[in-house]
Amino acid sequence: MEIKEFSQACENNKNPILGVLKKHFLNVSLVLEVGSGTGQHATYFADQLDWLVWQPTEVSERLGLLRDNCKFSARNNLRSPSSLDIFESWSQIQFDAIFTANTLHIIPVSGIKALFSNIAPNAASGFRVAIYGPFKYNGQYTSESNIAFDNWLRTQNPNRGIRDFETVDKMAQDVGLNLIEDCKMPANNQLLVWGL
Ligand SMILES: C[S@@+](CC[C@H](N)C(=O)[O-])C[C@H]1O[C@@H](n2cnc3c(N)ncnc32)[C@H](O)[C@@H]1O
Repeated sequence: MEIKEFSQACENNKNPILGVLKKHFLNVSLVLEVGSGTGQHATYFADQLDWLVWQPTEVSERLGLLRDNCKFSARNNLRSPSSLDIFESWSQIQFDAIFTANTLHIIPVSGIKALFSNIAPNAASGFRVAIYGPFKYNGQYTSESNIAFDNWLRTQNPNRGIRDFETVDKMAQDVGLNLIEDCKMPANNQLLVWGL
């Protein structure tokens, strides 16, 4: 048996991301991951961050693949993947951190707003949000390759695209979160961490 739809990008970025999560998730007990994809991040971070529980999630169409891949982990701090669509209401789930990678350029801007609306009721002291992916700053791309990537995304679907950091930061601030760290990551990505 092998990982289905193995992502080389996840393998490349998991260690740089881990270094940052180790710092900011130190006092976190339950991480809800949105759009877990192949589960490579979920299995690795549950293994490495053994003081917390990791809850991977996916939209229902992709849940089977995520569940199959998570079976490779024997960790009891990795919860069975569950179905979660950002557009639905899931704020009743108890969690004290959110992690999501490479989703904000896939979901429409209204979906990012829905994400923060669902975060809001859980956002208490110590809460953390960590978002990985490419961003623009003051309308400027961080690399030529991100310009090409953004163009490609928009030809796939006009609602997709690299987001402005300022737009996402405003949504975070609107639910009471403050930016703690903006880390430059490999391949022209960022890891943004907000907290309360
Ligand atoms: C580019 S993939 C990233 C997957 C993984 N996080 C990674 O870094 O490899 C984007 C993910 O967002 C998920 N997604 C798309 N629409 C979603 C929605 N409405 N709610 C939750 N997840 C969604 C997709 O199913 C997909 O797994």
